[in-house]
Amino acid sequence: MPADLNPIDKAKFVAAKRAVDYVEDGMKLGLGTGSTAAWMVRCLAERVRNEGLRVRGVPTSRRTAELAASLGIAVHTLDEVKWLDLTIDGADEFDRDLNLIKGGGAALLQEKIVATASDRMIVIADAAKEVARLGAFPLPVEVIPFGWQTTKALVEETLVSMDVLGRDTALRMNGERPLMTDEANYILDLHLERIGNPRQLALVLNQIPGVVENGLFIDICDIVVIGEADGRVSVRDINAGTTDEDRVEFAPTDNIFADLD
Ligand code: 5RP
Repeated sequence: MPADLNPIDKAKFVAAKRAVDYVEDGMKLGLGTGSTAAWMVRCLAERVRNEGLRVRGVPTSRRTAELAASLGIAVHTLDEVKWLDLTIDGADEFDRDLNLIKGGGAALLQEKIVATASDRMIVIADAAKEVARLGAFPLPVEVIPFGWQTTKALVEETLVSMDVLGRDTALRMNGERPLMTDEANYILDLHLERIGNPRQLALVLNQIPGVVENGLFIDICDIVVIGEADGRVSVRDINAGTTDEDRVEFAPTDNIFADLD
């Protein structure tokens, strides 16, 4: 493993590399978004190059589409492939039931559509993403720009009757302007601190007019691959009820770092 990668990137890299072992020739794959997912795209591209693996990738953001295409992965739209064998993506938080908070990279809408359209979802993460209770990471909620302040007020009103600790909400900014998602929507970040009932909150938020989708992924993730900086990985499978320990060795011939500065 290159010595100049920081420990978090090493952990993300080994999780990504282990998860890519699940990819088989001919698969239709959902390609997640974020720094951990970017490692996965690089590891996948390496297998495509080295093994001649034929896969069809459905990216969950423009960023991922550009990276995947630049590394030689065949990129398709979800409408072209319709249903996927596997999605591999990162997460901002996961709990013991493998429920997730996602959307730190503002791609939650496409990520949720793609993951839901997959036979299996594997989350790749460093160990810091595991939490006893979801909610320390602000929950992203995608809203349409029209009337967003009214939507924000309705979200805040809804939170009063929810089992959460904090109720501050903030429009995510990109410099002086609201951040725009790939679908030209805005993101509200809900600072909830602790979410008592993620399933209920996910359902209730999506009832509010103006809310497009929220970043709670409930019963969507099947497997989490947790990486450590020393190469250890832990693979937790919620359906099988198993946790396997493994180790990822970095081969000096790997050239997945070629596209990095
Ligand atoms: C993007 C996401 C990402 O998967 C999440 O933010 C984790 O990102 P990273 O791997 O960079 O920590 O949900 O919308």
